[in-house]
Amino acid sequence: MSDPQPAHFPQRIFSGIQPSGGLTLGNYLGAIKRFVAAQEAGVETIYCLVDLHAITVWQDPAKLRHATRELAAGYLAAGIDPARSILFNQSQVPAHAELAWIFNCVARMGWLRRMTQFKDKAGKNAEEASVGLFAYPNLMAADILVYHATHVPVGEDQKQHLELARDIAIKFNHDYGVDFFPVVEPVIEGAATRGMSLRDGTKKMSKSDPSDQSRINLTDDADAIAAKIRKARTDPEPLPESVAGLDGRAEARNLVNIYAALADIAPDDVIAQYGGQGFGAFKPALAELAVEKLSPLNAEMRRLMQDPAEIDRLLGTGAVRAREIAQPILERTLEIMGMIRSV
Ligand code: TYM
Repeated sequence: MSDPQPAHFPQRIFSGIQPSGGLTLGNYLGAIKRFVAAQEAGVETIYCLVDLHAITVWQDPAKLRHATRELAAGYLAAGIDPARSILFNQSQVPAHAELAWIFNCVARMGWLRRMTQFKDKAGKNAEEASVGLFAYPNLMAADILVYHATHVPVGEDQKQHLELARDIAIKFNHDYGVDFFPVVEPVIEGAATRGMSLRDGTKKMSKSDPSDQSRINLTDDADAIAAKIRKARTDPEPLPESVAGLDGRAEARNLVNIYAALADIAPDDVIAQYGGQGFGAFKPALAELAVEKLSPLNAEMRRLMQDPAEIDRLLGTGAVRAREIAQPILERTLEIMGMIRSV
């Protein structure tokens, strides 16, 4: 956590995950596991299920409801404690969408046109994409800034969006002559900030990949996890004797990084242990580790999903606490901008 903020912005962590399909090992290692570590470090932590972001592409209502509860179960099973972290779904805190509108008026078209994720998601059919998909990063900036959050742990793929959030904070502060929004710090740390597909080491592991073999889902059972690792694409060479030897070997690097992140060790330590050995030895070791770490999580998610009413209750309590922080910051923003606040 570099670059301390000015004193009037105490350290506060915010991050979010879309409930748009199941959670992957990429989400777990790149995000949730690190969210838990931040909570354990005693920092103030606010974690969101960004359902308003999910609807920037079509969501079947029943599936969205299920995915939101399953994501909440994933957060909880991984160790997010709703007594110590604020855990809630975005649509229950209207201040996010209100501040996003304001940021629609701060951010420039050109800034959003540069967003590579929009280009990737909209593909050749940008004219058919929802306006929400285009304005998505403004809502993301609002998520963070409506809490005056200072640090945002994310995977590598969110870096450009966080740079936009910084630009929005700087422009707002400059336009209104205030020092009101913190310039957020992305926190992109650890061995698996960019977990790659098990079928193609040049593509990100993603819940939207059409091939289920490309990813490990947090709902996969032990057999499925082991089978996917066994079938993961690799090259015929043994693991190198140093991390530098992973250059140009995307699939090998990915499996080493996954091992390191699961075991909470550095990739160097993995190489020190397995360098010179072939995948015939390394893959079973990785499968065993993955099953050992993920099976309890999987079992706990299934247990929690048996009581959806309790999950909804927890999200509601989290939303009340979130609103208490967000609403005054939104009110002050509107005041700064010259809006009359008479109620
Ligand atoms: P989303 O839902 O796509 O992913 C949630 C988090 O998981 C990380 N992640 C990965 N990390 C490593 N390897 C991977 N293969 C991998 N796939 C996903 C993402 O980087 C992210 O940290 N726009 C965000 C959600 C969001 C948000 C926010 C995040 C909305 N508002 C405010 C932070 C702050 C997204 O779509 O993440």
